[in-house]
Amino acid sequence: MAQDDNGVCPAQKAPETPYSILVLNGPNLAHTGLRCPDIYGRRALSDIPALVETLLGERSAQVRLLFFQSNCEGELINRLEAARNEGIHGVALNAGAYTHTGLALADCVQWIGIPVVEVHISNVFARKETIRRHSFLAPYSVGVIAGFGLMGYALAVQALYARLSGSD
Ligand code: DQA
Repeated sequence: MAQDDNGVCPAQKAPETPYSILVLNGPNLAHTGLRCPDIYGRRALSDIPALVETLLGERSAQVRLLFFQSNCEGELINRLEAARNEGIHGVALNAGAYTHTGLALADCVQWIGIPVVEVHISNVFARKETIRRHSFLAPYSVGVIAGFGLMGYALAVQALYARLSGSD
């Protein structure tokens, strides 16, 4: 699925796209594919729509993907608040290191009223820094996906689709 300048897949702008899902990425994730490829792999975030299509098949036509990345915690909170106003149905959130430090971001996920799936490209539980095993977000997320590379985002979208469509 190609994307336009706003990060929306044109094929998904049709009225039959009932589910809007925001793929929200935090600090240091813009350069996924270049950053520490031994840990995070060589795929870029721009590969995510194709991975979603692979997993969802024809159902991907019912999902409108939106993308946002910021290195700043406040901007992630601003985007989540905007998502609430826009009626976004679900969020696949990789908050990067804010996962482990971001109480303000967690406070937002707690109240925002949008189902959030926490995503990590790496298996944070197998990393040597023990702080990566702690998540401020997990208590307020519907689930956590870690260790499946970029496919983790597609798995999160699939899980949100199942939940939103009642097929879970
Ligand atoms: C990460 C894991 C975090 O611990 C780290 O700070 C990141 C990426 C992941 O996707 O594996 O930036 O969220």
